[in-house]
Amino acid sequence: MHKKRIFSGVQPTGNLHLGNYLGAIQNFVNLQNKFECIYCVVDLHAITNRQNPKELKSNTLETIASFIASGLNVEKNIIFNQASVSAHSELAWIFNCVARIGWMNRMTQFKEKAGKNKENASVGLLVYPNLMAADILIYKATHVPVGEDQKQHLELTRDIAKKFNNDFNCQDFFPIVEPLISNEMARVMSLRDGKKKMSKSEDSDFSRINLKDGKDLIDQKIRKAKTDNDPIPEQLSGLKNRYEAANLISIYASINNIEVSKVLDEFGGKNFSTFKSKLSESVVEKICPIGNEITKLLKDKSYLNGILEKGAKKAELIAKNNLKEIYNIVGLTKYI
Ligand code: TRP
Repeated sequence: MHKKRIFSGVQPTGNLHLGNYLGAIQNFVNLQNKFECIYCVVDLHAITNRQNPKELKSNTLETIASFIASGLNVEKNIIFNQASVSAHSELAWIFNCVARIGWMNRMTQFKEKAGKNKENASVGLLVYPNLMAADILIYKATHVPVGEDQKQHLELTRDIAKKFNNDFNCQDFFPIVEPLISNEMARVMSLRDGKKKMSKSEDSDFSRINLKDGKDLIDQKIRKAKTDNDPIPEQLSGLKNRYEAANLISIYASINNIEVSKVLDEFGGKNFSTFKSKLSESVVEKICPIGNEITKLLKDKSYLNGILEKGAKKAELIAKNNLKEIYNIVGLTKYI
């Protein structure tokens, strides 16, 4: 039996938005009181696509600042960046030799990201899931909170763990990880198009609410958010095929930590303008203090770097021990 341990990774980005918050960070904060949690900013994954080095550094700090501003406790959890703990890369190499090319080729995220010109994608993009498996398994983590889009990568992590345990005759060495896809991890959609995920790469800034947006801007964005002409339904079934309406209602539910059906009990039959002003209030109340705190934290880079350094040391303690065992199992000689 493995001890319950949570691991999750987030790509470094500047300017995090409501989708990042409700889709991941809010859930991390809830988990920290129940389990041992390790949260990692995955800068090595980021370079599978071309990055501007200066921006990459500042995005890493901004992601950490967003974690802290959202309420992640730096003493309770291990919070660090992936590049600081080299055991991730070392185990990823071993997994490159365990996983099969066919497994990689089946990954939908690779197909989507590589697009038509597969031959020209980086090799790193192809083996991205092996590094993700290494992130998780170097800590022998048992549970991984992720969004739906990462489920296939977690399946692969399980396959790698099983193959390693079998190939090297060490049953139960790596745990078979479980995804934690809770309904609290809302999938927040664009405010302009309810079928698209809220994203920082969408052209219109009005498609998203950034954590650093001020009250007036949030009010304006929500007022202008796309809806339809029907009132809010009283039953869940009334949200079918109403993507924009469903999105706003799910944001309200998620931010207030209530069920969607409860929102419908409260607002069913009312029109969207009444609802939108309530939604604005909730979003402003939750997001503005976080945005202000991010801005404040970003003024003190040495504080943030200190957090990363401390986190890396704590992570390294666990990772190094496990790596030693792994090298031993595989038959690799490591002197220092
Ligand atoms: N691939 C994940 C994403 O894009 C990020 C990630 C990297 C991750 N390593 C991880 C998530 C380990 C969970 C566990 O969202």
